[in-house]
Amino acid sequence: MKIKVVKDYDEMSLLAAKQIIEQIKIKNNSVLGLATGSTPIGMYKNLIEYFKRGEVDFSKVITFNLDEYIGLDKGNEQSYIYFMKKNLFSHINIKEENIFIPDGTAKDAEIECKRYNELLEKYGPIDIQILGIGVNGHIGFNEPSKSLTLRTHVTDLTEDTRKANARFFDDISKVPTKAITMGIGDIMKAEKIILLASGKSKAPIIKHMVETGISTFIPASVLKLHKNVEIIADEDAASLIEKDSCIA
Ligand code: GLP
Repeated sequence: MKIKVVKDYDEMSLLAAKQIIEQIKIKNNSVLGLATGSTPIGMYKNLIEYFKRGEVDFSKVITFNLDEYIGLDKGNEQSYIYFMKKNLFSHINIKEENIFIPDGTAKDAEIECKRYNELLEKYGPIDIQILGIGVNGHIGFNEPSKSLTLRTHVTDLTEDTRKANARFFDDISKVPTKAITMGIGDIMKAEKIILLASGKSKAPIIKHMVETGISTFIPASVLKLHKNVEIIADEDAASLIEKDSCIA
């Protein structure tokens, strides 16, 4: 696992965007694994800028989002489909049929998970998987637990996660209790994984993830088993890591 420490959020965002652009230049029909949350928004802004300058073509790019809340309709501003359209898709020339996000409004969520797994098998492997990290170490919505699930599945959100995400909702009672998420195995199948972390609130979990062993109670620590993972952390997020843990 490589750790690249950069000055701030803007540098993190630009560096991540550059890697995606490079990937698309090498392979115009790249499969990207995308994340939501506040962390990747700057990266998406940079991608939009590259597109506006005519430096990238998304017309053949395929995207898979990590997760979606169950029970929010697609027009709900807190749904991840809404987030992705607002922050990326509606500003670039990606084709609607090349965008995949679990459907949190599906009548039968289990069938929806099966459908998503089949799509991942059809179009995968993902070339670059972008991840954020929850303050409790979750990736996607793979929450700390005695065991982790390999494939796309329905999950209960922990109180920690609901509290952390409540800032986007009117109050915590509005935060869904369930979500559909790609599993750890789906994430680990990606050719390359880039985990982004910014800000002091992420410093304890980044330290924990980097400096302690692999545990299902820190889902992101499982990434240590992957051959091509890069953490791009800003100075605040990396501020608690022992210096010799960093290869930058
Ligand atoms: C949500 C998403 C995760 C994301 C996390 C961190 O729970 N499901 O994929 O990594 O939030 O969000 P933020 O980047 O806002 O800290």
